[in-house]
Amino acid sequence: MHIIEQLQADQTAANAQQDPNANICFFATVDAAGSPQVRTLVLRHIADAGITLFVNTSSPKWQQLLKQPRCQALLWYPSLQIQYRLSGIAEGLASETIQDNWHKRPLRAKLLDYFYDRTSPQSSRMTSRADFLEQFEALSQRVAPADLKPSDAAIGLLVQLDQIERLDLSQNDLPHERTVFEHTENDWIAHALVP
Ligand SMILES: Cc1cc2nc3c(=O)[nH]c(=O)nc-3n(C[C@H](O)[C@H](O)[C@H](O)COP(=O)(O)O)c2cc1C
Repeated sequence: MHIIEQLQADQTAANAQQDPNANICFFATVDAAGSPQVRTLVLRHIADAGITLFVNTSSPKWQQLLKQPRCQALLWYPSLQIQYRLSGIAEGLASETIQDNWHKRPLRAKLLDYFYDRTSPQSSRMTSRADFLEQFEALSQRVAPADLKPSDAAIGLLVQLDQIERLDLSQNDLPHERTVFEHTENDWIAHALVP
């Protein structure tokens, strides 16, 4: 099986097992000082073209990717005992690509996008939680829920993958199975690794 199909099949199997990690990834970037920065993101889509995530362009992660688009997403499915390490290059998708999804978000999430646009960027420091809640409430009073429109800063991120590593712990008596797949012109070449 093609590695992308394998990855999709593993994610489907994890979902079927109600794996709490089935739809998330741990996404690593490198900041301007060269330090790693990792955070949890929802893994929206897996396709031949790459993986899709949703981010806000006011966030540090987006600023980091503008400077260094190389990034890595880690998946760990405890229900299957399988780990993936997905490496590639991120690019922003036009904000129209997530419009449908944006409208389906809870009101609180839509208001947060407005907050990033109009009050303070994502991940910026506030004097206190109480101060944040007060400013968030003030913004909520100013906008009617029916008038909310997708923010241009809410974008999809496509990570075009060039390397995929799969580690399968479920080998019973045998050592774990570990394989790295490298992307060439239009194929993936597999190499076994010492686990
Ligand atoms: C389960 C879970 C899912 C998350 N999904 C997203 C997501 O899809 N997009 C996003 O921007 N942040 C998401 N977050 C929040 C991020 O982990 C992070 O706190 C935020 O994006 C700010 O990251 P930054 O300061 O590195 O830019 C999620 C957090 C958790 C715990």
